[in-house]
Amino acid sequence: MANWVTTCLVLVSAYIVAALLETASLLQFTGHLQGQRLCEYYGFAACACLALVVGARAWPRLGQWRRGLGLAAFGFAVAHTLLAYEHVFGGRLEGIEFLPDTERWATWVGLAALLLLVPLALTSSNFWVRRLGRRRWGRLHRLVFPAALLAVGHALWLGASGVGGQLLVVALAVAALVARLRPTVPLPGERHAEH
Ligand code: HEM
Repeated sequence: MANWVTTCLVLVSAYIVAALLETASLLQFTGHLQGQRLCEYYGFAACACLALVVGARAWPRLGQWRRGLGLAAFGFAVAHTLLAYEHVFGGRLEGIEFLPDTERWATWVGLAALLLLVPLALTSSNFWVRRLGRRRWGRLHRLVFPAALLAVGHALWLGASGVGGQLLVVALAVAALVARLRPTVPLPGERHAEH
């Protein structure tokens, strides 16, 4: 299947998941609490997409879905950040300063993860693969690893949903790591896998 088709399919699926998560949060909560829960759900969705991007190497057939998954991770992370801004920081950047020390630092770590994802999202196209060349593009896209690591640190450190949320993040991280370390057999005719 062409790359643009798989990317569109993943992005449409991510949009549906986002709508379902919003509905679930609206059914249970109201006001700022609903915004905070939705913010957390989108944070977990971003982590899940990042885990799939990192672990995809174990399943060569997943390779063609990685671009969509990476863009979906970025979309969820941006939506998560906007919701945090509105419902956790009260719609003001200074709101960060009112957080307890540990939460403030954990928030900066989350911001660093998001910033690392920006160049990856901007260069997730065939145009940029051609422009940079496969090697350089692949090297740039290895930034997904520090980004994922920072995202995991951020989520565990904040631990807003308690132990359940932390266990979910650890499970995603371990699954991605195990998949990543698994030896892979390239598909017939497949070129060297990037990042
Ligand atoms: C790749 C980027 C990011 C990912 C994957 C991510 C992921 C997560 C996850 C999974 C949680 C839920 C933790 C839990 O409930 O146990 C969380 C919480 C939170 N994140 Fe992020 N995050 C990212 C970036 C950011 C950024 C840039 C900000 C703000 C500038 C931010 C602010 C917050 C806040 C305030 C919470 C706590 C929400 C609450 O109290 O309900 N995150 N994040």
